[in-house]
Amino acid sequence: MGVVSVLGNATFGARPFPAFATRTTPVTRVFSGMQPSGEPHLGNLLGAWVNWVAMQERAECIYCVVDLHAMTSPAEHEPETLRARTVELATGMLAVGVDPERSILFVQSHVPEHTECTWLFNCVAGFGELRKQPQFKEKSEGRGESVSVGLFDYPVLQTADILLYHADEVPVGEDQRHHIELARDIGQRFNHRFGEVFTLPKAVHPQAGSRVMDLQDPTRKMSKSQSSEKGIIRLLDAPQQIEKKFKSAVTDSAADIRHDRAEKPGVSNLLEIFSGVTGTQVETLAAEYDGGGYGPFKQAVADAVVERLRPFQDRYRELEGDRGEVAALLARGAERAREIAAPTLERAKQAMGLLPPGQA
Ligand code: AMP
Ligand code: TRP
Repeated sequence: MGVVSVLGNATFGARPFPAFATRTTPVTRVFSGMQPSGEPHLGNLLGAWVNWVAMQERAECIYCVVDLHAMTSPAEHEPETLRARTVELATGMLAVGVDPERSILFVQSHVPEHTECTWLFNCVAGFGELRKQPQFKEKSEGRGESVSVGLFDYPVLQTADILLYHADEVPVGEDQRHHIELARDIGQRFNHRFGEVFTLPKAVHPQAGSRVMDLQDPTRKMSKSQSSEKGIIRLLDAPQQIEKKFKSAVTDSAADIRHDRAEKPGVSNLLEIFSGVTGTQVETLAAEYDGGGYGPFKQAVADAVVERLRPFQDRYRELEGDRGEVAALLARGAERAREIAAPTLERAKQAMGLLPPGQA
């Protein structure tokens, strides 16, 4: 039995992935993407990237800077900023440990198959199911007729991202659940109408406790668009800034240190962050610091975060000084991505009855 049949699944024979083709066991394929819509923060690190990096140990991973998605933001994007953020996000992913040898890292707009496949799926997706998407409803609210078609079509582009690569697993935050379900629905409908072309993906969510809350309002998620400057820890913040932000983090008037999201959201968030950056259990940390007051506890959390970010920041600076290397890695990533996406798209086009060029 050759490698091809081992890797082959219910889809269209083998999944062409030269770098991985020498593996002799069935390997899970992972796809995820992140929008270059702001500076990455501690929530992105603990809620997404830590998991992305770990998945490289057990799966074929494909990670994408989804710049086309970032263009759909209801607040119109600035071209210069989009370009800069795209490089920053790719640099951040490399600095955090996405390994461009083992995994594929690329920029969405460098692989034109994504937009072409979106059109095919546009003809399979229903207006009704898109209109009902919670994220679209939320983002378009109060904008009336001025909302862009791109925002409406966002989940179809995301479907193309995932299905083009026959991804089995899609690690995402809880808020993406509906988008992944839609990708499954569209894939299933396509396969049913036109024949088996696509693998149906499933969402995988990070374990509970990886939701990082705003330091100033611990009942809300830390977020690049909503958090105040004092509420967010950016991955490139200087150690002094980080320390200052943790010192002014909102807690409560009692001085006990224990994990209780409902009663003590601020302290619980700090404990979870502490645990997230050190790998030590929340309960162990609570027991160690309870009784010592909030001051020393906050200092310890700040120190641990600074320590955790130090290698990231060092690596980021190194890469920042070598833009040519980052550009070359992204070009190679796009090339490898196309090796998978192009044949998938071709099969989909033929299945749908589009006449192959050169045939009549
Ligand atoms: P965003 O930066 O909002 O585009 O989020 C990209 C991904 O980062 C999300 O899908 C989540 O997986 C993760 N993420 C963002 N903010 C947080 C947070 N506060 N806590 C945990 N994970 C987060
Ligand atoms: N919509 C996702 C988010 O905001 C980003 C994204 C785009 C994505 N394409 C994807 C995530 C494909 C997973 C797979 O977080």
